[in-house]
Amino acid sequence: MERLQKVIAASGYCSRRKAEELIQKGHVSVNGEVVREMGIKVNAKDQILVDGQLIGKERKEYYLLYKPRGVVTTVHDDKHRKTVVDLIDTKTRIYPVGRLDYDTTGLLLLTNDGILANGLMHPKNQVDKYYVAKVKGIPDGKSLKQLTYGVSVDGVRVRATRVKMKKVDKKNNTCMIFLTIHDGRNHQVKKMIEAIGSEVLKLKREQVSFLTLDGLTSGEYRSLTLKEVHKLYHELGITLKD
Ligand code: URA
Repeated sequence: MERLQKVIAASGYCSRRKAEELIQKGHVSVNGEVVREMGIKVNAKDQILVDGQLIGKERKEYYLLYKPRGVVTTVHDDKHRKTVVDLIDTKTRIYPVGRLDYDTTGLLLLTNDGILANGLMHPKNQVDKYYVAKVKGIPDGKSLKQLTYGVSVDGVRVRATRVKMKKVDKKNNTCMIFLTIHDGRNHQVKKMIEAIGSEVLKLKREQVSFLTLDGLTSGEYRSLTLKEVHKLYHELGITLKD
């Protein structure tokens, strides 16, 4: 049993504060009865309507996973390898938002909220994805600039919005490249680095939009807070009904 305003907010319909206001103003009914009383508890079988609109029975879930190496970004793997979904303890059918390669580590979101997932993945929304790559070869300034001007990946021109090179190790001929991209083509970062004549040895996604891996170690995950979910919606310009 959950409080009515919490269930309405969790459905993605509006914030909890707004849900309380809607309840007080008589916009909400439970099993055909208008409810104005705050704090009543409902369960999954109750029919909740807000202004006649059915509140989704499926509660939305949002997870931020620190993906380890050696895990497949899929819901089901025919080869019986461990998937990112196996790492999350839930009975809900969640799926990954975008994709990190088997050997890539870092921040991956998983949810059953299709609207948010599509919004985050669509290149038109220009969501920042921050990567750090350990690279074989030390690109010169011109090559690094090329990443921001644009390089061809699978016949499509893609670019990084920011590029920085750090930890140049001349002895081992490696360096670290920090880059931000908006789109999420298959193996995009690796192919971009290849396009300038170097090779990615290790890749980690450190941040997506304002979300970071802070507080998590590899293999750990946490739920997003309602505030974070609303902020993502806000950044994508998707308005929740209010
Ligand atoms: N780019 C890649 O090449 N691999 C990833 O896993 C993510 C972005």
